[in-house]
Amino acid sequence: MTRYARIAGLGRALGSRVVTNDDLARIVDTSDAWIRSRTGIAERRFADEGQTTATMAAEAGCHALCEAGVAPADVDLVIVATSTPDHLLFPSTACLVQESMGLCRAGAFDLSAACSGFVYGLVTASQFIATGAYDRVLVIGSDTMSRYLNFEDRGSCVLFGDGAGAALLTATDEPSGLRSFVLGADGAGGAHLIVPAGGSRQPLTPEAAAAHEHTIRMNGREVYRFSTTVPTTALEQAAAKAGTTIADLDLVVAHQANVRILQTAAHNLGVPEELFFSNVDRFGNTSAASVPLALYDARAQGLIEPGMCIGLMGFGGGLTWATAIWRW
Ligand code: ACO
Repeated sequence: MTRYARIAGLGRALGSRVVTNDDLARIVDTSDAWIRSRTGIAERRFADEGQTTATMAAEAGCHALCEAGVAPADVDLVIVATSTPDHLLFPSTACLVQESMGLCRAGAFDLSAACSGFVYGLVTASQFIATGAYDRVLVIGSDTMSRYLNFEDRGSCVLFGDGAGAALLTATDEPSGLRSFVLGADGAGGAHLIVPAGGSRQPLTPEAAAAHEHTIRMNGREVYRFSTTVPTTALEQAAAKAGTTIADLDLVVAHQANVRILQTAAHNLGVPEELFFSNVDRFGNTSAASVPLALYDARAQGLIEPGMCIGLMGFGGGLTWATAIWRW
């Protein structure tokens, strides 16, 4: 019997502090008008002192389990996609989540693929379920980007926000879930989006910290060029593998980096802009959390219903991309 993975529950958690464009304009040389016109972002959430990538991940994970009606002890595996783990080496953020959620039987690991991480995670979890190895896998995307922003760099600090989104995948024999996927990477573009210091290549020193080398450095134009070309081609490839076309999808839920990226992607693909869901105006770019936060909102708005075919499109640092065609 063929086994499929379905999303039985979704959950989310947000940074508690609402930060508007006007709030940012008080600390960096920018304006609400510039940020809205260049990115579509009106506000984002920043984690408060008590919140971390792991606490938001666990909150989102609990919501997903609750909706699915699955007990923590019945989860086989938890995957946390993040590039802002609570600890640089160990314990992994997934281990912190495993403990705080009481996932007493679950294996746990972090997945590092920046803003593509959640879609990489969904594809990974689906394999464990399709092979029969596991029945219930919790996939979480969680990031606390605000802790890695340089508030002297107006080109990048206005883009990001903090949050987490989670999906509980369960096994079913009803045809559903992952129909096809394309995972990709181009390490040659890694320097376009990088935190130079703080890892084993360049440990953090007082000099590096003074030069903000432990914060995000971004070549915005190169990232924009990449984001509007490579992931859309990968989405077309995934659609072809599933025997469909992007125009025939019910909705595309893409990484929420910037509304202009989504509009350009839709334009390049020759589909209406409305096919690409967007909630970037309220949350900004939440990295690995952005696709599940968008899924959550799209479903809440009645845009996702059982049987629909959804395109998923993650893209970001690495450079990485991950696209999938998902039957809800
Ligand atoms: N407020 C006001 N002015 C600004 C700001 C700001 N926050 N940031 C840059 N500017 C200025 C620049 O200094 C420049 O001024 P100048 O002409 O006097 O030199 C001017 O605005 C234009 O700068 P550009 O970089 O050309 O602006 P652009 O229209 O390309 O928009 C942006 C910049 C929004 C970063 C764009 O390149 C972009 O969206 N890139 C994609 C980046 C992205 O989404 N990164 C997210 C992480 S990666 C991911 O998730 C895929």
